Amino acid sequence: MKKIMMNFTYTLVLGLAAILLVSCKAGGDNPGLEYSPNMYHSVAYEPYTQITDPDAGRWLTSIEYEDGHAEFYNSNGLNPYRMNMRLPAPNTVSRNKFGSLPYRLPKDSLEIAAKMVSPFEGIDNKQLLDEGKALYISYCNHCHGPKGEGDGKVATGVTVDGVERSAYAGVANLKGDAYKDITEGHIFHVITAGKGLMAPHGSQISPEDRWKIARYVKTLQK
Ligand code: HEC
Repeated sequence: MKKIMMNFTYTLVLGLAAILLVSCKAGGDNPGLEYSPNMYHSVAYEPYTQITDPDAGRWLTSIEYEDGHAEFYNSNGLNPYRMNMRLPAPNTVSRNKFGSLPYRLPKDSLEIAAKMVSPFEGIDNKQLLDEGKALYISYCNHCHGPKGEGDGKVATGVTVDGVERSAYAGVANLKGDAYKDITEGHIFHVITAGKGLMAPHGSQISPEDRWKIARYVKTLQK
């Protein structure tokens, strides 16, 4: 009797284990059994993932959707291939919200870059300079100093416990003769791609803001 009970328990345990394992089967678009699926399946439209089966997650459906689809369906019936993301128009390059095309001149093109004309060319107002100044203070001041003389805290160093520490030697004095004739395009390119000891700042500052800083640097040099 005891033996039969043991056998029965083994069979039960094995059977349950088998069911568990089978339910773990995943592949292709089937993620297998999911624990709390609402956490993975966004109700919102997602640009990169898309569930096109209107019955996916029917067993879970608790919300009444207008077109009767089930919980996980999140495709867009209005777009081609029911994609959530629209394909860009052929042969187009996206511009940013200010209408600028991506800036693609490589680092060693300073000479060409120097000939670029600022999008703010001909615009001369206080707001532009104020914005340029605020940006300069955030991004350049600590090295180039408030007047561009290369005497920011990072350049001149600070004294800690009687020991002078200079983090960055060789910061350019932008009021020096070597720099007084550089163009806004030149400054824009140096901010974007860096030069020599100066690291690039292109990933941190939008192109428009870089042009504003360039304008402000020109006023500092006067
Ligand atoms: C971490 C310190 C540091 C910061 C921050 C920094 N610079 Fe520089 N910058 C330098 C150094 C160092 C040089 C000298 C580069 C060289 O010649 O090797 C330099 C050089 C320059 C030059 C001269 C380039 C040339 O043609 O030789 C310009 C213009 C300039 N910086 C503008 C800026 C502006 C504008 C900002 C703010 C967006 C900025 N820098 C932020 C360190 C810095």
